[in-house]
Amino acid sequence: MTPTPQHHALVRLDGKDYHFPVMVGTENEKAIDIRTLRQETGYITFDEGLGDTGSCTSSITFIDGEAGILRYRGYPIEQLAEKSSFVEATYLVIYGDLPTVEQRKRFSQMLTKHARLHEGMTKFLGEFPSASHPMAVLSSGVNSLSAYYPYLATNNHQRDLEHFDEAAAIAISKVRTIAAHSYRVSRGLPLNYPRPDFGYCENFLHLMFSEPYNEFVPTPEVAQALNLFLLLHADHEQNCSTSTVRMVASSGANLFTSIAAGVNALWGPLHGGANMSVIEMLKSIHAEGDDGTKFIAAARSGIGEQRLMGFGHRVYKHYDPRAKIIKASFYKALASLRIKDDPLLNIAMKLEEVALRDDYFLSRKLYPNVDFYSGLIMRAVGIPENMFTVMFAIGRMPGWVAQWHEVAANPKLKLYRPRQIYQGSPVRDYVPIEQRG
Ligand SMILES: CC(C)(COP(=O)(O)OP(=O)(O)OC[C@H]1O[C@@H](n2cnc3c(N)ncnc32)[C@H](O)[C@@H]1OP(=O)(O)O)[C@@H](O)C(=O)NCCC(=O)NCCS
Repeated sequence: MTPTPQHHALVRLDGKDYHFPVMVGTENEKAIDIRTLRQETGYITFDEGLGDTGSCTSSITFIDGEAGILRYRGYPIEQLAEKSSFVEATYLVIYGDLPTVEQRKRFSQMLTKHARLHEGMTKFLGEFPSASHPMAVLSSGVNSLSAYYPYLATNNHQRDLEHFDEAAAIAISKVRTIAAHSYRVSRGLPLNYPRPDFGYCENFLHLMFSEPYNEFVPTPEVAQALNLFLLLHADHEQNCSTSTVRMVASSGANLFTSIAAGVNALWGPLHGGANMSVIEMLKSIHAEGDDGTKFIAAARSGIGEQRLMGFGHRVYKHYDPRAKIIKASFYKALASLRIKDDPLLNIAMKLEEVALRDDYFLSRKLYPNVDFYSGLIMRAVGIPENMFTVMFAIGRMPGWVAQWHEVAANPKLKLYRPRQIYQGSPVRDYVPIEQRG
């Protein structure tokens, strides 16, 4: 994306005209390049929440929220969901192209090699109190990778990039083991070791649910549902956690520390916690004996400031394409799990049916987002609710790794350092403590 000299934005400030170049992206997205704005005019822009700000150029993911389009490295999410797998999509997101047979094999071998944790780390994770939230354990575990692998975490981007393949495989593979350990710790259960003969998702389920006296072997359908869930979360351009990863990386920080920051940003209910809120909403509707109709009426009229969780999106102003895919696969997963009648699913379907006919939701372009059905999928797979955000983190890991690489490999890298509009006290003189009222 380079500035096109023939396009300029004309800005008139204090009676003087300034011209700023216009940048055009691959998909014809347009941006005004204001990098010299303050230097030339003394002004800065104000965009709380950064909704109208392009903070970087990137070649990883494309989203058109109005048209409901999501692509990883140019490939439509629908095609990847149908034909690819989480591990293959991970390779694609990180390295930019679909792997050849040989590359795919080598990548899988790397993931298998790095699935096991350093014994010291297993002990360290086992010491967390059982009341710990799995996200607290996960972020600490991911951050501690920089302590266990200091040669991959030098905080010198050039040196860290020389070992990027190994660091990336460690991040992708070990996040799954750390995540499962975080769950076992929260239940006071003994920790399991990964199995080299299992695929990525089967291994995760084994790490979560196997007992010393009872090996857990998931059905292929359950592993497939998990595979799809992870693939659909692999990247989503400059959301809150990804921007956090890039911000931390811009200081020169290593991969592990940067992605641990992403885990922390994801923890909040406005970001990674929304899928849990959907289940809580469905449960409370069910407990009240409502089929969803009363709830919709309340959400529409603002009664009790209720929102229809899992509806609406900052970027998508149409059906979130991931929600469509996850909904379709959900029925298959339910059939394979022989779940015939899930009351929460019935309520979700009723809510969707009513909302998609309701002018309140249509006029505000509120459609189901990925979280509307993803919590139900996780529930069907047997993932406990306090692990939903952790699952999101495992899925988002390829995106964070790829975005860190984009920052670290950028020869023109600039430290992220936004400005502010100060609204505090004007200058005042220090008052000695005995003279303060
Ligand atoms: C995701 C979300 C924060 C996006 O918010 P946003 O783009 O900033 O949109 P706003 O909060 O400005 O909402 C615009 C209007 O739609 C309404 N609205 C938005 N989401 C709504 C929802 N889920 N239920 C009912 N009304 C909703 C707002 O009340 C507002 O109405 P108004 O114009 O009459 O004041 C918002 O849609 C939401 O809270 N959704 C539910 C939580 C959720 O599912 N989050 C996961 C996102 S992946």
